[in-house]
Amino acid sequence: MIKEVTHPLVKHKLSVLRDKETSHKKFRELADELTMFLAYEALKTVEIGEKEIETPITKTLGFELKNEIIIVPILRAGVGMLNGMFNLVPTARVGFVGMYRDPKTKEPVEYYKKFPENIENPIIFIVDPMLATGGSIIATVDLLKKEGFDKINIISIIASPEGVELLQKHHPDVDLYTAGVDEYLNENKYIVPGLGDAGDRLYGTK
Ligand code: PRP
Ligand code: URA
Repeated sequence: MIKEVTHPLVKHKLSVLRDKETSHKKFRELADELTMFLAYEALKTVEIGEKEIETPITKTLGFELKNEIIIVPILRAGVGMLNGMFNLVPTARVGFVGMYRDPKTKEPVEYYKKFPENIENPIIFIVDPMLATGGSIIATVDLLKKEGFDKINIISIIASPEGVELLQKHHPDVDLYTAGVDEYLNENKYIVPGLGDAGDRLYGTK
């Protein structure tokens, strides 16, 4: 399932994020804020159970989360969404996947992975601002499934139609939450209109 979050504030913030004049400081703040809006939707999939609680007035029925939430940012740009996730789920655990696109082939190259172990009833939220060809995210889902994780969601700020199609073909059981599915990929496999290179814009490297 692809869920496009079209809240007016998301549309507004996404437009400022795309703007080439937006500074890396502002870009980071907007990435945090957009992540919170997307995570609010995505976290609706978390299971809750009933629990008796006692208010200062009386006993009543309360609720508690039944899943252990694991955030998996894809290095490096995914780290720019970690703070926004922590704002909503401060108790979340974190796994990391290091992946970069080979500049020539545009294929993902894995260079690091580390996941929380022996977690009961985990639910995964992969975070990466860009789903372009879909290669990096699909490879990350492959890795997580190989590790035995089965409840997997993706939060990406911008996706391409080509990437969405490939993701659905490879992993129809995985849900994607995004602020926008853009128009197409250009000859360098960049998303159009997109926002450029998410890592460089987050960290001011170029
Ligand atoms: C970017 C982005 C995704 C990937 C998307 O990372 O953050 O991980 O490209 O492209 P894809 O869908 O075609 O795989 P990049 O490879 O530039 O690495 P970085 O985060 O280290 O800058
Ligand atoms: N990676 C990015 O950061 N941006 C794109 O448009 C495509 C891949």
